[in-house]
Amino acid sequence: MLTLIFATNNQHKVDEIKSVLGNSFEIITLQEAGIDIDIPEPYDTLQENASTKSATIHTLTNKNCFSEDTGLEVDALNGEPGVKSARYAGDVKNFQANIDKLLLNLEGKENRTAQFRTVISLILNNEEHFFEGVCKGKIITEQKGLSGFGYDPVFIPDGSNKTFAEMTMEEKNEFSHRRKATDKLIEFLKEYNITN
Ligand code: IMP
Repeated sequence: MLTLIFATNNQHKVDEIKSVLGNSFEIITLQEAGIDIDIPEPYDTLQENASTKSATIHTLTNKNCFSEDTGLEVDALNGEPGVKSARYAGDVKNFQANIDKLLLNLEGKENRTAQFRTVISLILNNEEHFFEGVCKGKIITEQKGLSGFGYDPVFIPDGSNKTFAEMTMEEKNEFSHRRKATDKLIEFLKEYNITN
């Protein structure tokens, strides 16, 4: 079975991606690999940040690995917070402060459309491959629900009337950006397994 290190310290991301990947591939977390580092995300694109994260882990371990970077892109804010989603309200990552800032910046704006975008960088046998997933939706005016993480309590995906934070992980997976990017990763890995 193919084993991949997932270069993240975010347990929510691990749970979501493991629930999509199922048992077809073995996923090892940074913690399980004994790696305790917070990889910086200094770049202006999700792709560069994802690439840096997987390259850092690949350099440390020389093993197949992948990472992902996700941003919430809000149309009325010219794509903000985007690549800065984790630190929108300041250098300390704080989900509540980020939501508060987002809702404040959207006050009085009619257009509340937004999208989550995930970019996965996979390093497999020393070659890098990218996969992207997008989920379109809207930002509501008040938080709803307690599940998930990040901006989940204020984001309703198109085709639903619930926020991500009001959904089970399985329900979120029906819509999510991460799910869509992971599906492409799975397709690629299946194809790769067949041809190698
Ligand atoms: P990063 O990919 O860890 O840099 O994620 C950036 C930030 O985007 C996170 O800290 C969260 O605030 C937010 N985020 C990423 N994925 C999701 C999601 O699936 N739901 C809600 N917020 C998310």
